[in-house]
Amino acid sequence: MAMLRSLLVAGALTLLIPNPNAAAAEEIPIGEYASLTGGSASFGQSSHKGTELAVEEINAAGGVLGKKLKLITEDDQSQAGQPATIVRKLISQDKVVAVLGEVASSKSLEAAPICQQNKIPMITPASTNPKVTEVGDYIFRICFIDPFQGTVMAKFARSKGWKKIAVLTDVKQDYSVGLAEFFVKDFTANGGEIVRDQKYSTGDKDFKPQLTSIKAARPDAIFIPGYYAEVALIAKQARLLGLKVPLLGGDGWVGDSLLKVAGHSLDGSFFSCHFSADEQSPDTRNFVAKFKAKHGEIPDDMAALGYDSAMILADAIRRAGTTDSAKLRDAIAATTHHDGITGNITLDSARNASKPAVILTVGNGGFQFVETVAP
Ligand code: PHE
Repeated sequence: MAMLRSLLVAGALTLLIPNPNAAAAEEIPIGEYASLTGGSASFGQSSHKGTELAVEEINAAGGVLGKKLKLITEDDQSQAGQPATIVRKLISQDKVVAVLGEVASSKSLEAAPICQQNKIPMITPASTNPKVTEVGDYIFRICFIDPFQGTVMAKFARSKGWKKIAVLTDVKQDYSVGLAEFFVKDFTANGGEIVRDQKYSTGDKDFKPQLTSIKAARPDAIFIPGYYAEVALIAKQARLLGLKVPLLGGDGWVGDSLLKVAGHSLDGSFFSCHFSADEQSPDTRNFVAKFKAKHGEIPDDMAALGYDSAMILADAIRRAGTTDSAKLRDAIAATTHHDGITGNITLDSARNASKPAVILTVGNGGFQFVETVAP
């Protein structure tokens, strides 16, 4: 009896003690993991700026389900091993209802199984390797995938009359390995020839051996499905070795230091990506103006994709009417015709988006729009 009384007293006491989580419950915690520092810092900084802008706009308009979104961002330092640790912390400690990230496919592939096991929806804004969403039904992306991107560039190379291509792949990145594979598949299936297949690793600084071998094969162009930091050095060293042919690449070329490091070495080269800030649609102009006002710079692909990913998540929470993970998952999966900055986004049954790619060329110290390629 005495024990029952003390239990009752303890119960009454807990009722009187203010719940320290009460204030937090007024907000909806959203996790974000991004490479804010390190070798691919441009990816994380840009995507974060876009995500942040979207969250600010959502909150300024009253939030979602009567609550403000609370964006909790963690830096994975562009390092393998970090995404898993960080996402575990976001889920177990911060109790996020969903996770946004990463840009680089290998990083997304590391965190996705953790989100899947915990049934916390993850939306990658920019990872294009097919394997990412294959991890499970809680993993989504709002961008196109590399079988499409590879085909776009292979077709483009053929349209230029190029028949012999050399390929230079970053073996440390699932993105690079996959994109090379899909490009080669389409290019060779349609009569093209791969005259050299060379490799490098993220962080390498000297590409002269590979480029010397490529030069000897006399290609019409070189396909380099890598990230901006290495691509800039490769371009410079290729020109120093007298390799004058156009270089071709994918979305991984996008990064603020690409042209700073490459100078004019990439002039006349081409790459595919998700977004062109020069596009004249009212939505793009409006987004570019808002982004410039907040961050003092022109948004790139990752910024636009980061913005779209946060908007899609907020919309799904609104439609779900709850942050319950299974219902939120279903609402994200049901995303159709979301009018995004990077295009009209409908998620298919494999949780991918089918969207046009943009081909840009390098010249006059910047990027110029070439064409949009529909899926
Ligand atoms: N698609 C790249 C990947 O999967 C990442 C990326 C997206 C890089 C957009 C730049 C711009 O790794």
